[in-house]
Amino acid sequence: MNRVGSACQTTLEARARIAAMRVRLVSGSHFAAAHRLHRDDWDEATNRRVFDKCNNANGHGHTYGLEVTVEGQIDPETGYVMDFGLLKHAVEEWVVHRLDRRHLNFDVDFLAGINPTAENIAVAIWRQLEARVAPGVLVRVALHETERNSVVYEGGEP
Ligand code: NI
Repeated sequence: MNRVGSACQTTLEARARIAAMRVRLVSGSHFAAAHRLHRDDWDEATNRRVFDKCNNANGHGHTYGLEVTVEGQIDPETGYVMDFGLLKHAVEEWVVHRLDRRHLNFDVDFLAGINPTAENIAVAIWRQLEARVAPGVLVRVALHETERNSVVYEGGEP
């Protein structure tokens, strides 16, 4: 093989290696929302015992932190898994704009009938985004309810 051919082969091999590499992108955002932890099918005493302060009748608020992680292969042409702007746009359109400055018990269609614990919100966010982050594949939703308390959902149904 002459020198030019060898160089081309090296470039092709390098591109193939890049294409085989799977990388995760993490998009961070925030939203402010109110919620009340409550089950209508439980009596008041049980709600108070289980949910304590989080059962406050008129709710309480959090500034939630959200990290959405997608995975994919690096496109050898662009060097991207996907454009961060596209991922951010999907998170804003399908999640943040629908949750920010809302009462999660009353105002959000995709949380209707759901007790809005951090766990349940994270699963609902996953369902909102799962089909909307192509060419990335959704692999993780992390929801920070406070600086100290976070939940992580990585998919999987029972
Ligand atoms: Ni709370």
